[in-house]
Amino acid sequence: MSAERKPSRLRLVVLVSGRGSNLQALLDAGGERNFPAEVVAVISDNESASALDRARNVGIEARWVDPAGEDFEERLGREVEAMCPGLICCAGYMRILSSSFVARFSGKIINIHPSLLPSFPGLRAQRKALRAGVRVSGCTVHFIDEGVDTGPIILQAAVPVMPDDDEESLSERILAFEHRLYPLAVRLIAEGKIRLEGNRVFLDKESAWENLDGFIAPKPIIS
Ligand code: GAR
Repeated sequence: MSAERKPSRLRLVVLVSGRGSNLQALLDAGGERNFPAEVVAVISDNESASALDRARNVGIEARWVDPAGEDFEERLGREVEAMCPGLICCAGYMRILSSSFVARFSGKIINIHPSLLPSFPGLRAQRKALRAGVRVSGCTVHFIDEGVDTGPIILQAAVPVMPDDDEESLSERILAFEHRLYPLAVRLIAEGKIRLEGNRVFLDKESAWENLDGFIAPKPIIS
């Protein structure tokens, strides 16, 4: 029997609060043979999040951390640390992480947000975009810092706003891009093709362009 050793993959701990379609995109990517990262645990502040079921369905550790009590983030941090994450991915995690939590996992926490940041941070970004009358919106993957949706931008996808869009139709169009953008950002991080310097993210020149199809716009590149 040949004992072929698989190269080790980046361990992802995913924080979720609800539906979990972005988690599903990461689970699906992790199921691909050559994807350099894998979801090892899913942790939620919401006991009935369907995202937890998505993880359980494929045999991945799924835990609820009760958000009641002042020590919530301490308990959350312990659960996360116990899984030895290489990267923590917020995927529809609807709580603001405290600065001490962010400092504890400095440079290792990323988030996906349904707008082209820095426009429309916070809740209901798609509704804010519609109310502002923008013609283009999109989604952003960024490192988390102490602010609300303010951290260094890794990748963005631009998505058109149609004249007859409502919040639901725009959310749905953006979500389809989120499902492509999040695994791509994770892959670039796992392959060491992203460098965080202060509040800027730089991409390796070659990889920055290899997966782009006109919608995904990387930050300026040096290498
Ligand atoms: C996604 O659209 C995600 O970008 C957004 O919540 C949705 C979660 O959907 N996150 C935020 O607004 C964070 N500020 P999902 O649970 O199906 O992945």
